[in-house]
Amino acid sequence: MRVDLVVKNIGQLVTMAGPPRPRTRKDIMEFSVIESGALVISGGRITGVGKERILKDFEIQDDTPIIDARGQCVTPGLVDAHTHAVFCGWREKELALKLKGYSYMDILQEGGGILNTVEKTRRATEDELIMQGKKSLNRMLAHGTTTIEAKSGYGLNLEGELKSLRVLKELDRTHPVDIIPTFLGAHVVPEEYKGNKQDFVDLVINEMIPEVAAQGLAEFCDVFCEEGVFTIEESRDILLAGRTYGLRPKLHADELVPFGGAELAAEVEAATADHLLCSSDAGIKAMVARGVMGVLLPGTSFSLMLPHFAPAVKMLEMGLPLALATDFNPGSSPTESLQIIMNLASLKLKMTPEEVMTAVTINGAYAAGRGDSAGSFEQGKLGDVVIWDAPNIEFLMYHYGVNLVDKVIKKGVVVVDGGRVLYETC
Ligand code: NIG
Ligand code: FE
Repeated sequence: MRVDLVVKNIGQLVTMAGPPRPRTRKDIMEFSVIESGALVISGGRITGVGKERILKDFEIQDDTPIIDARGQCVTPGLVDAHTHAVFCGWREKELALKLKGYSYMDILQEGGGILNTVEKTRRATEDELIMQGKKSLNRMLAHGTTTIEAKSGYGLNLEGELKSLRVLKELDRTHPVDIIPTFLGAHVVPEEYKGNKQDFVDLVINEMIPEVAAQGLAEFCDVFCEEGVFTIEESRDILLAGRTYGLRPKLHADELVPFGGAELAAEVEAATADHLLCSSDAGIKAMVARGVMGVLLPGTSFSLMLPHFAPAVKMLEMGLPLALATDFNPGSSPTESLQIIMNLASLKLKMTPEEVMTAVTINGAYAAGRGDSAGSFEQGKLGDVVIWDAPNIEFLMYHYGVNLVDKVIKKGVVVVDGGRVLYETC
């Protein structure tokens, strides 16, 4: 097979090779790093990974691009398993309120917060949403992210939700970043259903879910299950309805107060439960027993100035496989960069560099439903690669606030060079 691209002279090649399932702390003990490594990509996929001497087994043509990694660190493309990437309406004005002591929920209950973004997203055309989405995807790509999960949830009526999901589909088709879509019709109760929540839940269950599924616009169904938003019972009804239409459950769980979200995630065998700042030990145990992954989003603790972060070390000790994600959204976590999340995970959650790398590559891929095709350098997986301007993964956790990406390769094509996106044809 013709070789598309070779990367050689890799000082630290982080393969993430291992058992084909979400990795637990035990698995991470056998973290695979190759020194003086090389990668071969053919037909957009990984066909060679190992020491540089493997290159002699391939028919490399005179015109095959060969990238010299100059002894630096190379990892799989990062996978961001929780984003709200399609919206119109940033909310920088909330900063002043937050500094005065208003909480996230105070702002939402006064008609701001998510509802503010909903109003602007409803008014935006598909083209406007595509333009803004593309800008964010370019930032993600420049920071090393090659695959994301992305949620709707700023439409909150049938047409608005379908519009956001169509935008995600179009961005996936035209932009190098791969996008896995999630339906989040139950993000909050929109203004027009205030005082009438059950009617909105019925709308989500009886109209939105069937139509989203019929149009094949989402793989997962998510709910913001939180005090003052959707109850455990409402969340259960929505997730089970989604499941009957083939949408795998996901859950915003126990973000602000202990609420039983982790227990519900276990009960409905959700693919993931996300946030988990205030989950009970029993809930985490139940998740482990039912094979539910945890997705931690330390950007929200940081940006909402919460006094606590998720107890990652305890969760890892209990055997929970963890992914880390940005939660990119205009309210609680306005960043497209997984690198700052890696810094926070290391410095605030006290995860080891190996645990962090696992959480933003192979475990992110499993959390986004792409464990079979992304997140590690193994035969036949996508040729998604980050060449860092860093000698090892410790450096990535320690040197913060700047973009440490040198090059990004997506399906065998260089799309970022010198930290800048080359691919502007979307
Ligand atoms: O994951 N919690 C609910 N949804 C997002 C915030 C969305 C927003 O504030 O716009 C989250 O934190
Ligand atoms: Fe979220």
